[in-house]
Amino acid sequence: MRLPPTPSALVVLLAQIATRTSSFVHAAAPTQGNYDGPYRPQIHFSPPQNFMNDPNGLLRDRNGTYHLYYQYNPTDLVAGNQHWGHATSGDLYHWVNQPIAIFPPNNDSQVFSGSAVIDVNNTSGFFPDQDDGVVAIYTLNTPTAQVQEIAYSTDGGYTFTRYPGNPVIDSNSTQFRDPKVIWYEDHWAMVVAYSQDFVIGVYTSPDLKTWSHASNFTHHGLLGLQYECPNLVKMPVEGGNDTMYVLTISINPGAPLGGSITQYFPGTFNGTHFTPVDGAARITDFAKDNYAGQFFYGIPDGEDALSIAWSSNWQYAQNVPTAAEGWRSSMSVPRRNLLTDTAPTGWDLVSLPYDLSPVLGDQLAARDNLGNGVLDVNYSTVASNALYFEANVTGLTGVSSAATINFTFSNPESGESIRGGYFFGGDFWLDRGRIQGFDNPFFTDKFSVSSPLRADGTWTLSGVIDRSILEVFVDRGAHSATSTFYATQPLTSFTLSTAGLPDAASVSVVVYALKSVWENTDSA
Ligand SMILES: *[C@@H]1O[C@H](CO)[C@@H](O)[C@H](O)[C@H]1NC(C)=O
Ligand SMILES: *[C@@H]1O[C@H](CO)[C@@H](O)[C@H](O)[C@H]1NC(C)=O
Ligand SMILES: *[C@@H]1O[C@H](CO)[C@@H](O)[C@H](O)[C@H]1NC(C)=O
Ligand SMILES: *[C@@H]1O[C@H](CO)[C@@H](O)[C@H](O)[C@H]1NC(C)=O
Ligand SMILES: *[C@@H]1O[C@H](CO)[C@@H](O)[C@H](O)[C@H]1NC(C)=O
Ligand SMILES: *[C@@H]1O[C@H](CO)[C@@H](O)[C@H](O)[C@H]1NC(C)=O
Ligand SMILES: *[C@@H]1O[C@H](CO)[C@@H](O)[C@H](O)[C@H]1NC(C)=O
Ligand SMILES: *[C@@H]1O[C@H](CO)[C@@H](O)[C@H](O)[C@H]1NC(C)=O
Ligand SMILES: *[C@@H]1O[C@H](CO)[C@@H](O)[C@H](O)[C@H]1NC(C)=O
Ligand SMILES: *[C@@H]1O[C@H](CO)[C@@H](O)[C@H](O)[C@H]1NC(C)=O
Ligand SMILES: *[C@@H]1O[C@H](CO)[C@@H](O)[C@H](O)[C@H]1NC(C)=O
Repeated sequence: MRLPPTPSALVVLLAQIATRTSSFVHAAAPTQGNYDGPYRPQIHFSPPQNFMNDPNGLLRDRNGTYHLYYQYNPTDLVAGNQHWGHATSGDLYHWVNQPIAIFPPNNDSQVFSGSAVIDVNNTSGFFPDQDDGVVAIYTLNTPTAQVQEIAYSTDGGYTFTRYPGNPVIDSNSTQFRDPKVIWYEDHWAMVVAYSQDFVIGVYTSPDLKTWSHASNFTHHGLLGLQYECPNLVKMPVEGGNDTMYVLTISINPGAPLGGSITQYFPGTFNGTHFTPVDGAARITDFAKDNYAGQFFYGIPDGEDALSIAWSSNWQYAQNVPTAAEGWRSSMSVPRRNLLTDTAPTGWDLVSLPYDLSPVLGDQLAARDNLGNGVLDVNYSTVASNALYFEANVTGLTGVSSAATINFTFSNPESGESIRGGYFFGGDFWLDRGRIQGFDNPFFTDKFSVSSPLRADGTWTLSGVIDRSILEVFVDRGAHSATSTFYATQPLTSFTLSTAGLPDAASVSVVVYALKSVWENTDSA
């Protein structure tokens, strides 16, 4: 992570004030949160209090417990005074807030983004009598440098000890951050951003303590003004047993739609060098609230790669009105990811919600075939105010581009709505412009993506709406959009409509209430 540049002097000052004056927080118990506010997502992770940004150290441990660490300012509602917050989950939806995991060593430094691994073979030598020790690799930000440090945990990732030999990489730079480490056959491999040089460095290590520079991946894709939060991940290719590597690079500021975005490069990795399949820059999301996504360590080969992203944008993350509820920023839903080869554009990252069954509630509506019709669902009695919907459309061969499918979530009293739709064979669009609770010049309201029809004449749409965040998945996850919104009144009405479809087309639809994961937990 990095503090945003435009207001950076101010933010850095605030951060310094926060670190000097308020606290060097050493919480023994987890911070409690009130998860009842009308903007509080009910199936997405958000911090108990104060400001959160990048996911860090994503890990599945040997017991199947998922660990989510995150950039956390425990003392304010804007970035600064960065720590690693921590939460754990058995299903990626029901999170338990844990005590802060990593603290800055002094008041002039901050613990920026990074990753975590399980050192099963004790390569580090940190673990006298265990094969499930956790090592965190993060950036320590000081007034004069950004260096890479490590800390180890003998209690499964709950508390960490800073390695006395830190830093493990010092490149005499103030713009060098966000290490992500994986295991490659017989050594550790790190990708790390030389942010303002537009370079992703690859380093290798036998023991997580001694690192050698192996290669640079330089000036690829969209540059923006900086590279951040690189990830290197092996993932399955759809329809076979092949795997490929994907390098993701987040850029901020300077995304095409403004602010922050993540791009990715499918390719190969041989332990020291990453080689992209082609020269194309591809983006992970077509709206504005999906940044710094990280892939989980510890997912066995053959399973889909799992990820979580920060659902905000540095252009307005520190201004959104959730501050009135004592928190800012949520994560995306957990995603499963794989690659598919789609004509004519080539490799595409397919991203879909991880198994939602732990949070699926009552089925509110279902149609085997809506045809050209309208489905209305009044969900004002759904306590979570959160829904999941999906529509599968088949028989689209020869469909005219005048055929459409639209959805709207609205509040009938205030007239507010967030809407989207598809001109079959053409563009998919999303519009949060009729929502009135947040006015900001960078809170752009309309997004779209081209979604050509596949040869088999089928197309799908699914979505999760959760109080102040909507995520949609278009064409089996070939495209996804993450969009926050801040309505003055909760949205309570869902409408799905279709028109212009040929008789041969069929539209099956299902709508579920989602069950709050925060009910009876944590509420102060
Ligand atoms: C940080 O500042 C606070 C408040 O001035 C002080 O109490 C604390 O000892 C300082 N911590 C360190 C590690 O210097
Ligand atoms: C651990 O050691 C085994 C046996 O040498 C090796 O196959 C495996 O790749 C190593 N894994 C890690 C994460 O060190
Ligand atoms: C881990 O390595 C350290 C240092 O070499 C050693 O003292 C310890 O016994 C090792 N632990 C295991 C479980 O191998
Ligand atoms: C994993 O489960 C075992 C057995 O229940 C327990 O002893 C151990 O502490 C757990 N490890 C972690 C990291 O929670
Ligand atoms: C570190 O960077 C500073 C500023 O660019 C430079 O003056 C100094 O010589 C560098 N130190 C080393 C050891 O390279
Ligand atoms: C890799 O990039 C960094 C940052 O620009 C640069 O300092 C370093 O010299 C490069 N290394 C090589 C081997 O090109
Ligand atoms: C994938 O691997 C399994 C098990 O080895 C094998 O049965 C199957 O035929 C393979 N599938 C493809 C498409 O290669
Ligand atoms: C990895 O790829 C680079 C660049 O193509 C090459 O120079 C290097 O020899 C390769 N390493 C291995 C182990 O194949
Ligand atoms: C939705 O249902 C609620 C509760 O039954 C009812 O009060 C409200 O009038 C309904 N809204 C619409 C638009 O029908
Ligand atoms: C969907 O919205 C588009 C854009 O407003 C409109 O042209 C189309 O007629 C709508 N279709 C349906 C089925 O409501
Ligand atoms: C849509 O298709 C998927 C994949 O075949 C299936 O699991 C799901 O139940 C279908 N949903 C509806 C509403 O038909």
